Amino acid sequence: MRHGRHAAIGVFDSGVGGLTVLKALMERLPLESTVYLGDTARVPYGTKSGEVVTRYSLANAHALLEYDIKALVVACNTASAVALPALEAELPIPVIGVIIPGAQAAAKVTKTGKVAVIGTPGTIASGAYQAALTAASPTMQVNTRACPLFVPLAEEGWIDGMVPQLVAEKYLGGDFLGADVDTLVLGCTHYPLLAEVIQKVVGPGVTLVDSAKATTERLVQVLRERELTRLERGPVERHFLVTDTPARFLEVGARFLGRPLSGARQIDLHVK
Ligand code: DGL
Repeated sequence: MRHGRHAAIGVFDSGVGGLTVLKALMERLPLESTVYLGDTARVPYGTKSGEVVTRYSLANAHALLEYDIKALVVACNTASAVALPALEAELPIPVIGVIIPGAQAAAKVTKTGKVAVIGTPGTIASGAYQAALTAASPTMQVNTRACPLFVPLAEEGWIDGMVPQLVAEKYLGGDFLGADVDTLVLGCTHYPLLAEVIQKVVGPGVTLVDSAKATTERLVQVLRERELTRLERGPVERHFLVTDTPARFLEVGARFLGRPLSGARQIDLHVK
């Protein structure tokens, strides 16, 4: 039953990272079934051009539509930054990206009106966070920095100790934050895993904003407005799809999701 209250919520990411968003979604909306697609054959998206990420994103979305989803969450910051207009134009269902909810959450948190954003090179180069932050609050001052090494560190499980500490100091030290920045947006699926070390480097005066929760709240609102919220209890389905063989996704993904992953199905994408 396409678009009905019983249909699942589709979520896609370039790989395992979006499981941090799925985790927040599962906690907030436990009655909703989900279909998660990780494009593990093509990850990373963060270092690729906007044109290529948009083509991959459209292919992911079309693969998920085959599963009768009622809404699509674009868990990948890079895909949300560059492909949201194309996805919204092409899909017959609501599409929720992570950038606008994350930016709005940061706009609510900041008292100084000075916010910093970190993300992949693609996300930062797109200017999407700057645009969303200034749309939320026109006088906002925004510093941004690409932190590409945080992605492999999180996947390797190097989330504490000397190595991530040095990397975080290199990216976030010096005058990057400036004196008045009081809010830092973790603009990448992987960064919440490094939140502790990042917090240590930026100090207690800076609030970290993780867009996963804000995105889930936006999803709750959209489902309500469109009368798509599942109302009664019943069997909840969790499907996991990947484009590479599943072994690494299952192993690394368990850490991102915070629970074991029992299986994932390998599919082919039809990338135009
Ligand atoms: N999921 C990506 C993001 O949030 C990070 C990993 C990648 O570069 O594909 O931007």
